[in-house]
Amino acid sequence: MSISSQNYFDVYSTTDDLKLFSLLSTNIHTRCIYIGVKDGLFLQIESGVEDLNILAKNLGYNTERLHRLLKNFEHLNLVKEKNENQYELTSSGKKLLPNTKGSFAHLALLWGEEFQEVTNHLHEILKSEKSGFECAYKENVYSYLESNLKMAENFNLAMRGVSEYCSEDVLHEIDLNSANKIADIGGGSGANLRAFITNNSHLNGILFDQKSVIDKAIEEMETFQHKNRVELIAGDFFKPFSFKVDVIILSKIIHNWDDERAVQILTNCRNALNDNGKIYLIEWTLEHEREPLTARTMDINMMIATCGKVRSFKEFGKLFDNAGLKFSQAKNISNKIGLIEVTTM
Ligand SMILES: C[S@@+](CC[C@H](N)C(=O)[O-])C[C@H]1O[C@@H](n2cnc3c(N)ncnc32)[C@H](O)[C@@H]1O
Repeated sequence: MSISSQNYFDVYSTTDDLKLFSLLSTNIHTRCIYIGVKDGLFLQIESGVEDLNILAKNLGYNTERLHRLLKNFEHLNLVKEKNENQYELTSSGKKLLPNTKGSFAHLALLWGEEFQEVTNHLHEILKSEKSGFECAYKENVYSYLESNLKMAENFNLAMRGVSEYCSEDVLHEIDLNSANKIADIGGGSGANLRAFITNNSHLNGILFDQKSVIDKAIEEMETFQHKNRVELIAGDFFKPFSFKVDVIILSKIIHNWDDERAVQILTNCRNALNDNGKIYLIEWTLEHEREPLTARTMDINMMIATCGKVRSFKEFGKLFDNAGLKFSQAKNISNKIGLIEVTTM
């Protein structure tokens, strides 16, 4: 293979020095991708504007500089030059289109805006027990989202994209045959709950989240064909729930919180279970052999953005003990995220 036909991933996987160089330059590429998403560059290419000159005119960019940006995107395997100065998206590039299944576009925006600012506080974060949001904005990420609706909307779409990417396989592993009622606690846009309700015709469900999230989810739920089997409840999972259910889903919730607050959420969930009820946690886990590939990255992300952490099974076990719960089984389904089944003591 000639050098010119090699892309970023071929080149930088060759030697340790080049791998390190590539790591150090990640920030530059992340910024380029962020701008490509924010300005709608990937969207324009997908919608048929493939010519460099027209793209530059539409985006108000300098043509020669856009050419260099696109050549870098080609190197990153996001676009392909199909004819001279004419570009198309690769399958990775298509993942940067907004509002598509499993999209990373909203994650690129999320990590490029407030999260970028928060990451700049790493030094302070390492020397304290404060989260980056507390250092940068004097409040935790979820209270910040309650009053910053633009970021909240993007955050929910980013979470949905991550869920569609990493937990869809997990959803099929949860056996809901003997459950009548399920609650998705901190269920975000409701995408997971809709999948459960669609696949289990006997099942009723509750979507529980903060008010701003539920207000948005109500709009989406309007067009859901099984909406008569879904109840949307706004509230705070640090307070006791007003309902009882057979199964509780906690998808990517516990890693956002320190041990004390994690136990509080789990205890409230335990108290909301009917007899023989179960809680399913969809979580990254740090464990030899069963550690999903993205777990370490998410752990650092949690350390920076929240006061939470990705935990080992042993650490989860301690939380369950303190909340009056016990491990039933745990699986790492797709090498992306794990599923933990918990029952009452
Ligand atoms: C990382 S997101 C996970 C969303 C969804 N479960 C998923 O898997 O994509 C965490 C969710 O917890 C919700 N949340 C945070 N604090 C909350 C609170 N005190 N009470 C209820 N929900 C809360 C957020 O609004 C958000 O939807």
